[in-house]
Amino acid sequence: MCVKKTILILTALLIFIPITNLSANTFAQENLEESRALSKGLFSKLKHALVTGMKEGGPTAAIAACSQKAQAITDRASNARKGIKVRRTSLRLRNQKNAPDAWEIKGLEQFEARVAAGESMKDMEYFSVVGSNGNKQFRYMKAIPASKPCMVCHGELVSLDVLKLIRAIYPLEQATGFKPGDLRGAFSVTKNID
Ligand code: HEC
Repeated sequence: MCVKKTILILTALLIFIPITNLSANTFAQENLEESRALSKGLFSKLKHALVTGMKEGGPTAAIAACSQKAQAITDRASNARKGIKVRRTSLRLRNQKNAPDAWEIKGLEQFEARVAAGESMKDMEYFSVVGSNGNKQFRYMKAIPASKPCMVCHGELVSLDVLKLIRAIYPLEQATGFKPGDLRGAFSVTKNID
């Protein structure tokens, strides 16, 4: 009887453990893919606004366009109905509205350390489930590298008219002095999961 019971329990464990692991993995994978897609979507919309602004009137026109449109584009990229938010953040901010919270600061600091250790930023990610039952969130960050086209507005040698305009709009700005290959910031996704 006892042996039978043990066998039954073992069989049940053998069946159920892989199933629960599998569903946990699928769940994590779905959240990851959704976060990646939202980050990519926001990136291409912001890039489009930037490129259009540059074409229309160079960096000063692009700054004017970006400073007015970036936050609205960011809000629209989120999906309130699904309880999922996407934004950008950085340890060296231009717009205070993008300030990181404690979890994001930890992620950004980890990214800095990984970049310093030579890791490529191409697929650099950081994610975890935070909070307790009833208030759990899946949180995700993707590194944003500084590249050559960003230097007109974020580089070491920003022209005086660009700098003046940026400082007029963002008096506390700290987002110049970057070199291509530096970590500029991150996309950050938060999803309510229960
Ligand atoms: C024409 C000027 C201009 C160029 C070029 C530019 N940016 Fe920005 N960037 C801005 C302005 C203005 C803001 C603040 C408005 C906002 O996005 O909320 C900003 C904000 C950001 C932020 C949000 C964090 C923060 O500091 O507020 C990130 C991340 C960022 N830029 C990355 C980049 C990257 C990466 C590139 C190159 C692919 C780039 N930028 C090119 C003007 C520019």
